Parts: sequence; C-alpha cells; structure tokens
Amino acid sequence: MCGIVGYIGQQEASPIIIDGLRRLEYRGYDSAGICTLNGGEPQIYRAEGKLVNLENILRETPATGTRGIGHTRWATHGRPSEINAHPHQASNIVVVHNGIIENYLKLKERLKASGHTFKSETDTEIIAHLVEEHYRQCGDFEKAVRLALAEAEGAYAVAILCQDEPDKLIAAKQGAPLVIGQGQGEYFVASDIPALLSHTREMIFLEDGEIAIFTPDEMRITDMAGGLLTKESKTITWSPLMAEKGGYKHFMLKEIYEQPRAIADTIAGRLKSDEGDVYLEDLDIDDEQLAGLEKIFIIACGTSWHAGLVGKFYIEKLARVPVEIDIASEFRYRDPIVNDKSLTILISQSGETADTLAGLREAKGKGGKAVCICNVVDSSIARESDGVIYTHAGPEIGVASTKAFTTQLVALYLLAIKLGRVRGLLSADDCRKKVESLVALPRQLEKSLELDDEIEKIARDYMNARDFLYLGRGNQYPIALEGALKLKEISYIHAEGYPAGEMKHGPIALIDETLPVVVLVPRNATYDKVVSNMEEVCARGGKVIAVASGDEDELRDKVSALIQVPETTEDLMPILTSVPMQLLAYHIAVLKGTDVDQPRNLAKSVTVE
Ligand code: AGP
Repeated sequence: MCGIVGYIGQQEASPIIIDGLRRLEYRGYDSAGICTLNGGEPQIYRAEGKLVNLENILRETPATGTRGIGHTRWATHGRPSEINAHPHQASNIVVVHNGIIENYLKLKERLKASGHTFKSETDTEIIAHLVEEHYRQCGDFEKAVRLALAEAEGAYAVAILCQDEPDKLIAAKQGAPLVIGQGQGEYFVASDIPALLSHTREMIFLEDGEIAIFTPDEMRITDMAGGLLTKESKTITWSPLMAEKGGYKHFMLKEIYEQPRAIADTIAGRLKSDEGDVYLEDLDIDDEQLAGLEKIFIIACGTSWHAGLVGKFYIEKLARVPVEIDIASEFRYRDPIVNDKSLTILISQSGETADTLAGLREAKGKGGKAVCICNVVDSSIARESDGVIYTHAGPEIGVASTKAFTTQLVALYLLAIKLGRVRGLLSADDCRKKVESLVALPRQLEKSLELDDEIEKIARDYMNARDFLYLGRGNQYPIALEGALKLKEISYIHAEGYPAGEMKHGPIALIDETLPVVVLVPRNATYDKVVSNMEEVCARGGKVIAVASGDEDELRDKVSALIQVPETTEDLMPILTSVPMQLLAYHIAVLKGTDVDQPRNLAKSVTVE
C-alpha cells in the first residue's frame, strides 16, 4: 500500500523524505514522488518504478527546502505511471494520499463542471482540487482542508502543502494509518513507524477523523470540526536496527531466523508456571466473561487467516468453545450472528488491514466483545479492540509474513490455555505441561533452522516446477495452505494447499512425475492416514517432499525428499513445520531471481478493501 512521509523543520526535507520512503518500501509500490517548498513554486518530481528512479531525477535537479511531502504509490485508480504518481497538484495546493476516495467520480464531475481540469486518472487529484477550490473561496489553508475533507467519502491518510502558506503542513487520517514524529523544532508524518525511527522515538498516532496542523515550532491536533484535541505521545522502543537487514540477504530470511527470539519474546512474562496458568496483560476481558462464552469468531486475512485455522483447533480442543473462522472480507458482508455471548478474535500482523478492521467494527457493532492478536502497538485494530494480545515479533518488513505467523500461533495457544483454565477444562498441571512445551519451542525452532542448507538443495531440484501441491491433515492442513501461499507470493509458482484426505476428490487428477507434492506428515493422530495419501501420490509418479518429525527413516525410501523437524507436541508441531515451508519458498524465489521482499503486485499492509 502507499507510503507517506512529510517533514517541516530546519533541515533539508528531501533526504529525510527519501530515506523515510525507503523504509516504507516494504509496503509495496509502483511509483514514487516528492514535493518540497522553498519560497517559490512547489518543486514536484515523480518517477514510475523503484525509488532509485526518483533519486536519479533528484540528483540532476535537487528538490530544495525545509518543508516537503513524499509518497510511494501502489496503484488503485489508474495504472502505475509517472502521471498518476503522487504528489498531485491543483494550482497552489499539493497532496499525497493513501487510501481510496469512494465518491471521487461524483466529485470529479462537479469540479469539472466548475472549470477544473485533471491531469491524472487518480482519485487523489480530486482532493487537491477540492482544497484549492475552497482555498480560493476562503483564503485559509486549514479551513480549506477541513471543508474539502468533509466532502470526501472513503478511507484516506493525506499530507498537504500550500504554496501560499509555506510554513504549514497539514495531515489528516480517516481509515488509513498515519503517525506523527516529534523532534526539536521539527515534525514528521509517515504511514508507519520505521520511516521515522532514525529521527525520533516520540510518536503520536492519529485517530480517524483527526487533523494535525504543523509549523516548524508548533503542532495542533483537532477534530474535523476544528475542536482542539490533547494527545499523548508514546516512546517507541524499537531501534532503527531492528528494522534493518542485519547482514541477511533479505528481510524475509532475517525474519525467518528471528523466530526463536520472536517466540521467546511472545511467551516472556506470560507463563505462570507456579500457578499453572498464563497471564495475558492487555486482554481486558474478565474471567467470568471468558467462562460464559458460547461462541468464538476468528476473523483475518491471508497468512493471519491460516493462523486462525490452527487457532480453531487449539480453542476447540483446550476450551471446548465452538469456533467459526472467516476470511475478513467475507465476514463483514455476511451478516454474522454475533451477540454478547460471543467473542470475536481479529488476527492481524499490521493491525491496519482494511477488511479485518471492518470485521472488527461489524462484530462490535452487533454487541459482541472483540480482542485482537496483533504485532503493531497502537495500530488501528489494536486501538479499536476491547483487548489485545500483542505478538512481540518486532517489525516485519518482508511482504511474506513469517515470524508474525508463528508468533500468532503462540498467542492463540496462550489464549486457548487461558480459556481452558477459566472454563475448568484444564488443570494447573495440564497447563504446566503445555507451558513446558512452549518453553522448549525456541530451541526446537533453532534446530529446524539448521535444515536450511538441506532445504536449499531441495529448492534447486524443484525450482523449475510449474505447479506445487501441499497436503496436510488436521492442524497441519493450515500449514499446507500457508506453504502454498508462501510459494506463490514470492516465487510466482502456482501452488495449492489441500486437506490430504480431499486429494482423491479432485486434485489427484493433477498428479504426474512433473508435480512436486509437499506432504506434511509429522507423527500425530492422523499419521497413518497421511502416509496412505502419500502412497497414493507416489503410485502415480508424483514427487513427494515429505516434512516429518523425529527419525522417520522408514519414509526415506518412499519419497523424493525428506525433511525432518524436531519433535514437539501435536499442538505445537504446526509452528515447527512452518519453518521448512518458509525456507523452501524463500530459496526457490531466490533461485528464480524474484523480488523476495517486495513481490510484484503485493503490499505489506492492505489498507484498501
Ligand atoms: C502474508 O504473507 C501475506 N502477505 C498476506 O496474506 C497477509 O498475511 C494479509 O494481508 C494479512 O495481513 P495482516 O496480518 O497485516 O492483517
């Protein structure tokens, strides 16, 4: 999704903005642009493609001045091109925007009728023209922004400059993220924290319906009507280094290797071994309410939805509450039967996914309680939920989610144990055993990571396959889905995940000697069944890459490749089998030479519907 960076202060704005945009590259983009003010006409430069194209232009013709706004665009309205790249200008007004203006066609017709002409195909250009029109009528930049935004429907975060009031930068948020950084005699705005970390750790998170007006020395935050608001800043503890590659070739690989630490951090302080219980500090729902729950909904998108599928197994097994799991974009439109005896769990790494946020609002609007499992502190979903379980994975920059996924599984397991305890289904002793298995997990993950070289060799053997099939049963079925998603996202190879038992109802027709089939076959209750499914694949010449646990040498003769992860409990095994899924996809993508951290067409944070 688009990235915004804005600056007003004493330093040259352009290098700060370009550096910030680089740190937002993970969000995905297809063009970039910048505008600075230095006493004259706005200096606007834009380029299609990667940031380096914009930097090449700026080397020839620098953008000067101590106020500026910049943008990386992920196309929604209008193809990726220089003309559609932001910033967009209407006379003295310049705008960058993240989100979608839903009534833009209606507004465009009206503006055209009153003489405005448009250069781009974007919805964003409408905002520039609206502000310009109001400014011409009222002569007040701040008022003009308010009047313009009152007309815009949809989701947006904007940063706006006015040539005639060059000492002001205005930013506003409605449904898309925007964070403010406070410096000494300078202010920053950005779509996400990493863009600002090298300048300041003091940050304020704008809420929907809020406008921030900056001069170099002062900031005011108001509601849309102009009412002054008081907001506390937060000190962000992430170091800039935490958002860098730290010697790894890609963020994705770094994040795969960070999993033992990320899981240890997600568990830390939450296990009460003595009492045989777990402690979830921000859950904010009392035990009585948890005990009285009749239904749980889990809502998420993509990888987070796969985590939810495993979470259903955890909660139904340990707490015996029926769980319905939905993809957020389906849940929000299906009029779900939510009531005060239900709990909705939203899962989101970014905490900004538009569909998941809408699912949260739908559930709360129907009177249900909602908690989220989220990786980004104070993100929109975290703020609007009744309670939060933070995954302490640290910033995840690679578009393909890895450590966020495995920490989500840990958070779901902690929640399932908590529910099992308050509902009287788990004894303190049961809980202690589960806690022990969690404590052993980081070490077992380290062992799984030692499979890296072996998996790279397997990747070399299968990198030219046209399709892949992933099979698993029970709580390994979501890992099959996740393995297939990882592969398609970053290597662009078509892959499908299937419940192993469902293969004979269709996908078996695909099997021949060209089709690699990844079979998740750790020792568990359905082991024999999965082995039988595997035999069915082998009998038809399919190439099986088996992911087993412990010493399964008897499988070696049957399969084309065998990956053996360490032993853990059946419940936690999905966390260990996820690692070979991630590494296999990663190595195939690297061998194919794709853009691993920013795969084509994808965005890290999907803030549009
Ligand atoms: C994961 O690899 C994907 N890039 C994507 O499916 C992602 O999980 C999905 O967009 C949900 O994001 P969220 O967890 O930030 O809500």
